[in-house]
Amino acid sequence: MNDKSSMAKSKLLVAGNWKMNGLRADLAQIEAIKAGVGTSRAVDIAIFPPATLIQAAAALVEGSPVQVGAQDCRPEPAGAFTGDLSAAMVKDAGASAVILGHSERRAGHCETSRIIRQKASAALKTGLESIICLGETKGERAAGLASSVCARQLADSVPDESSPVNTVIAYEPVWAIGSGLSPSAEDIASMHSLLRTQLGERFRDARGQWRILYGGSVTPANAAAILENDEVDGVLVGGASLNAASFLAIIAAAREASKRCEP
Ligand code: PGA
Repeated sequence: MNDKSSMAKSKLLVAGNWKMNGLRADLAQIEAIKAGVGTSRAVDIAIFPPATLIQAAAALVEGSPVQVGAQDCRPEPAGAFTGDLSAAMVKDAGASAVILGHSERRAGHCETSRIIRQKASAALKTGLESIICLGETKGERAAGLASSVCARQLADSVPDESSPVNTVIAYEPVWAIGSGLSPSAEDIASMHSLLRTQLGERFRDARGQWRILYGGSVTPANAAAILENDEVDGVLVGGASLNAASFLAIIAAAREASKRCEP
């Protein structure tokens, strides 16, 4: 993901969010993912292990197409923030990207879109790419508020200095995360299209240049169907990224789907 040319929209991104999972012994999974990927750069691949494994994981994948990122960072560059990490710290450990605004942080750490925007600014200033997450809850979808909630989160979470080169958006309906449920292909397409239009209007970029990932219960069983969707530029995978075999199966589905972009 840190290869600027790799951010072209035509390249799908498969990102694995390990959340609070993984001990040093689990670096074997990253080694197996690296071996399975080989030298192919047909799709972009990034793994976001817990902060304790960033340094070792980054060393492991050095020189390979697999990138390593962090799951969060603080907006401030340094200071009295016990237990937190700055963008410079995770970059120094070997991260080239950072996930921001995941719903588990929005809900569990009271992170507002305003804070996420500050974090994204700090990350971009430090030279980290951002994957900014957003998505509606089950109740918001049931109340017909999914579009307005996501549009508001997008407007408030993405800083002005973002561009398709340094920022990726991940649409992750909260009710789809870890639940085995996922939206219909039509619902994913219409939400991605809405987000893309909004980004195109705000940043005056060709609307097609932004990469918008889908996340929420992506597995080897449904990855091909999700990635076939023209509006989907990749996937953010939680549970199924913890195991090399299932993550590699999703990468294989992305490689297949990326053939649709070939001339
Ligand atoms: P899941 O998580 O794939 O386990 O549903 C996705 C995410 O939270 O990014």
